[in-house]
Amino acid sequence: MKGKVEAIGKGGYGIVFREGKTVFVPYVIEGEEIEFEIEKKKSSVYFGKAVEIIKSSEKRVKPVCKYYGVCGGCNFQHISYDYQLKLKRKILINNLKRIAKVEIPFEVETIPSPFTEKYRTKVTFKIINGKIGFFKRNSNELIEIEECIIANEKINDFLKEIKGNNLIESVKKGEIIVLSNGEKISAVLKSGRKKNYLTDEKGLFFELLGLKYFFTPISFIQSNLYNLKTMLSLLREEIEKGGESAADLFSGTGFFAMLLSKYFKKVYSYEIKKENIKLQEKNKNINSIENIKIISGNILRKNMIFPSELFVIDPPRGGITKKVIKRVAQAFPEKIIYFSCDSATFSRDTFYFKEKGYSLKKLKILDNFPHSDHFEIFSVFEKAD
Ligand SMILES: C[S@@+](CC[C@H](N)C(=O)[O-])C[C@H]1O[C@@H](n2cnc3c(N)ncnc32)[C@H](O)[C@@H]1O
Repeated sequence: MKGKVEAIGKGGYGIVFREGKTVFVPYVIEGEEIEFEIEKKKSSVYFGKAVEIIKSSEKRVKPVCKYYGVCGGCNFQHISYDYQLKLKRKILINNLKRIAKVEIPFEVETIPSPFTEKYRTKVTFKIINGKIGFFKRNSNELIEIEECIIANEKINDFLKEIKGNNLIESVKKGEIIVLSNGEKISAVLKSGRKKNYLTDEKGLFFELLGLKYFFTPISFIQSNLYNLKTMLSLLREEIEKGGESAADLFSGTGFFAMLLSKYFKKVYSYEIKKENIKLQEKNKNINSIENIKIISGNILRKNMIFPSELFVIDPPRGGITKKVIKRVAQAFPEKIIYFSCDSATFSRDTFYFKEKGYSLKKLKILDNFPHSDHFEIFSVFEKAD
């Protein structure tokens, strides 16, 4: 079948309309004319694959990775980096229009990643029958790999070193999680309930904006090594005025909470995962911080959120619920800083914030994920006048 790619949608798929069908096709660019085949149907949409690019976009480039198209990781490598960024902005603005019913009256700044390769702080490699790699797109089938171009080079060096490791070769099904701070790595092998460190280091230090952070391979860390400081700097610009109390919802190991503690007398830090809470306590101690109160448990179930002038919210892809937004609004913050890694749930939450009288004052894209359709959103909400 022949068709024209009308837009790039969720998951980085090209959208093609043909004979009353909506077909999602990967690895294409809007405007391209393609010959495609339908592979499967999922509820009302069809998934296909391009067998020929009849009219190619001038934005098309040669992918840098030899596994591209088979490996389930990257999905934007065939697009020039400049256009990847433009597409991300378009996706965000469209979602805000469609889902949040919001038109952004200002230019949305896009902060690129300083490097489009070797940027990942952490990579999870799959192991099947002693072989190391990633799963193929939409499958549990392993593709063995020798390197991952978006992983920090220390991670790739380690991958070479562990080739032929007896312990790994004996694993039927498991994973290796490797963390890098650009100088050293820390790696853990997980198989069933067993956990074995493959390095002497059980975790690594990162020095950021005068603070010392300790992360482990199993704790949460933002993905882009070169944007860690940028994320903190974006927050710092908003909090320099300081105040009585701030809240950090979904606080992980205290990445934002520790910076907040320098500017606010009291910080309420909400987190669910034991490993992250343990490390946040450790990070507090290393930095001699005494004004962070960690509130453990599921924020979605908390009846009470302490009143604070400022909220930082950085949830997983699912975003926050209408219920949490209602409780945040009841805490009467002057300012809400929302970091999001999903433009659809961010747009849904923007709609609920708008219902509670909060409007978007700042909005930026921070590209933490070059070569994939993912991106980070930095936003500031304030009570509408
Ligand atoms: C995107 S991460 C952000 C972590 C932290 N802000 C950072 O920058 O490192 C989301 C965090 O929310 C935590 N989390 C997920 N669901 C949660 C819930 N229902 N209640 C509280 N914390 C949750 C996760 O464990 C994770 O640490």
